[in-house]
Amino acid sequence: MTADGLARARRKMTEAGVAATAVDVFARFYGLLESGETGVIAESDVEPLTDVPHLDALTVDDDAALEALAATAVIKLNGGLGTSMGMDRAKSLLRVRGDRTFLDVIAQQVLAARAATGARLPLLLMNSFRTQEDTLAALAGYDELRVDGLPLDFLQNREPKLLVDDLTPVEWPADPSLEWCPPGHGDLYTALHASGALQALLDAGFRYATVSNSDNLGAVPDARIAGWFAASGAPFAAEVARRTPADRKGGHLVRRAADGRIVLRETAQTLPEDADAAADIARHPYFNTNNLWLDLHALAAELDRTGGVLELPLIRNEKTVDPTDSSSPTVVQIESAMGAAIEVFDGAAVLEVDRSRFLPVKTTNDLLVLRSDVYAVDDAHRLVAQVDAPLVTLDSGHYKTIDAFEARLPHTPSLRAASSLTVEGDWTFGRDVVVEGQARLADQGAPAAVPDGARVVADGIA
Ligand code: UTP
Repeated sequence: MTADGLARARRKMTEAGVAATAVDVFARFYGLLESGETGVIAESDVEPLTDVPHLDALTVDDDAALEALAATAVIKLNGGLGTSMGMDRAKSLLRVRGDRTFLDVIAQQVLAARAATGARLPLLLMNSFRTQEDTLAALAGYDELRVDGLPLDFLQNREPKLLVDDLTPVEWPADPSLEWCPPGHGDLYTALHASGALQALLDAGFRYATVSNSDNLGAVPDARIAGWFAASGAPFAAEVARRTPADRKGGHLVRRAADGRIVLRETAQTLPEDADAAADIARHPYFNTNNLWLDLHALAAELDRTGGVLELPLIRNEKTVDPTDSSSPTVVQIESAMGAAIEVFDGAAVLEVDRSRFLPVKTTNDLLVLRSDVYAVDDAHRLVAQVDAPLVTLDSGHYKTIDAFEARLPHTPSLRAASSLTVEGDWTFGRDVVVEGQARLADQGAPAAVPDGARVVADGIA
């Protein structure tokens, strides 16, 4: 029945007005899915990636750096729905510093970089059908962000969720919008192409793009990296950072033994027997920050050559059709990762950057640290760590979703003097709470309160 499944999915996409190239990309992935493709990359087929140059050690000519930045556009991935934090809208709309949202900080970072460098630095958000409307509404106050002739965003594609049993498009009359999903950030290339944004950037004289997640406020426009990238002549570059024990599980870059190409290996692409080797941070020292640099000429040429269908590996993602209802039917979402395109480009380059360019918010634990006094904001609207960030572990039963988190942490405690904070059970924090050392709040078996002005230490409230 799966041939019928593909035909039905194609029809559904076409009727919904999805671009023809996006339908082709989907059909290629569907074929991979049907053939049982797993995307697994065996340890015996790869060599570790080592000897990556570090940004701090590069000699970059100042004028060349500014010249490269002047030809660079800033693209922020903003199409994801923050489902890990129980959201169904863009994470970038969350408050992160006082009343400012991630989007506010991004806008201010771009405006500050323009002021400091004179570069035009257009900001383009990649939105999905679920994030576009409220994101553009939130940016309405930033008229000065617009660069003549360029849109503030472009829309990524959408595709049908497929029933796990027969790979046919799911029907969900209770909320038909839940029949669709964004196809992961690997859709960037198809979306840039199909939306006309790539051509618009080229027409406006832009040569490079610096791309990053909108939940990573560390990825500010950087003239030295732009200068290095332009001078390298590479078609594509990935910023990597050194893995620490906390990153043992993440996706990392390796070299494919067969052809020497650098490829991205996600945890899901690792064989069980290779788990230890993949987690060995001495053997595989770098993870992918998802901060990428694109040569737009090279990208346009590769898209022309492939008819708009880059050969990215498939990510098979199983979820329920209604992510908030675990009893709703199980579906497969076809996804791909933007960073995986590193294997598509001959001569792709890799640059090691400092951890400060990677401040992702995947969980409410991350959000709490970013909101706190562990960070200060400088003149360039960069978040600068004041101390080593503490390890925050909030009870997954009471703080995992953003609503539960906001209800219990209406006021962000001071974390500057904390090395860790572990919260077990259901605690609501008052104002002006200070967390110190290896702090821990134990489960009281019932909702409990941390009073205004309290100190939280190793054995609870001091
Ligand atoms: P994440 O992997 O954190 O996904 O995306 P997410 O959607 O934000 O969160 P979860 O997994 O649902 O909890 C990394 C970046 O890629 C963007 C996100 O907006 C985020 O900035 N993204 C993700 C897209 O732009 N499109 C997608 O289809 C998926």
